[in-house]
Amino acid sequence: MLLLSLESSCDETAAAVVKDGRTILSSVVASQIAVHAEYGGVVPEIASRQHLEAVSLVVEQALDKAGVAPSQLEGIAVTQGPGLAGALLVGISAAKGLSLGLGVPLVGVNHIEGHLLAVFLEQPVEFPFIALAVSGGHSHLYRVDGVGRYTTLGQTVDDAAGEAFDKVAKLIGLPYPGGVAIDRLAAEGDPKAIKFPRPLLHDGTFNFSFSGLKTAVLTHLQKHPEARGAGLNDLAASFQEAVCEVLTKKTAAAVAATGIKRLVVAGGVACNSGLRRSMRLFADKNGVELSIAKPALCADNAAMIAVPGDFYLQHGITSGFDLDALPVWPLDRLAARLGEVR
Ligand code: KG4
Ligand code: ZN
Repeated sequence: MLLLSLESSCDETAAAVVKDGRTILSSVVASQIAVHAEYGGVVPEIASRQHLEAVSLVVEQALDKAGVAPSQLEGIAVTQGPGLAGALLVGISAAKGLSLGLGVPLVGVNHIEGHLLAVFLEQPVEFPFIALAVSGGHSHLYRVDGVGRYTTLGQTVDDAAGEAFDKVAKLIGLPYPGGVAIDRLAAEGDPKAIKFPRPLLHDGTFNFSFSGLKTAVLTHLQKHPEARGAGLNDLAASFQEAVCEVLTKKTAAAVAATGIKRLVVAGGVACNSGLRRSMRLFADKNGVELSIAKPALCADNAAMIAVPGDFYLQHGITSGFDLDALPVWPLDRLAARLGEVR
């Protein structure tokens, strides 16, 4: 199937043309980061307006780059949630218009499901697998038994990993979004310089907690104001090491507990070089098949939405024009839509 997919859940307006849920013909991402950076984070009202301005252009560009005429499209997939309600509605409205105008089916897709399956655009992964989704809003461990079949093993009890990166970056005066900037600073620092806590590491669950780690960074800065100077590299490296160690060890525990030796790491934080390194080390040592997509597919994009989108449309699972934004949409609830596909 030749699909057009749309993504507008947060601060990226994105469209892609994807064949059979596997081959990217085009993937266009218009980032609003520069606009939100001024405010130190995403401003929902501004995000909606920016999506409105960008969405038609992004769709046109995606079709142009793919060399595909609208009449050739066989379906539309759009992010339905989770995310900012106003932002989601822009993509959803555009998708409904296209679906109605072109007379092709429409399906609403879960953004996190898109992240988990993005790697299929590079190579298929056999089910079942363990998946770690780490982004600005999520730090979740899942058991994945098939498209649409997700069981939550654990999740953050407070901040998401990306949120922690962004908040710590703000504390040390780096611009939003801070994950990439911390990653860059950390490359020049000593990860063992400061011993930050490893929250919930030995609590026997697969849950995470990152807000205490952020407070530990703040306390350290108050006690050692000199750390803001030349010591910033060491602070960034030590913080990143703490986050990566917890993420990797909890994931390792999930792999051990389930005996499933296939692992996918997904979401914006999966771009982090420290996390990619520690996951690779763990996987190689333990004979685990690790799949992490290239950074452009880990960060928000529309191509990833086409992967589950194609599966659902192929199985006759479509959304009506009453499709509404779902700002909160746990993955476990997706199984219900599979019905007879089961
Ligand atoms: O998946 P994503 O693009 O958007 C959401 O769905 O949230 O993830 C964005 C998050 C932000 O918090 C950003 O700081 C973080 O991913 N991020 C990183 C890196 N690149 C993006 N965090 C750490 N290291 C990176 N290299
Ligand atoms: Zn995302």
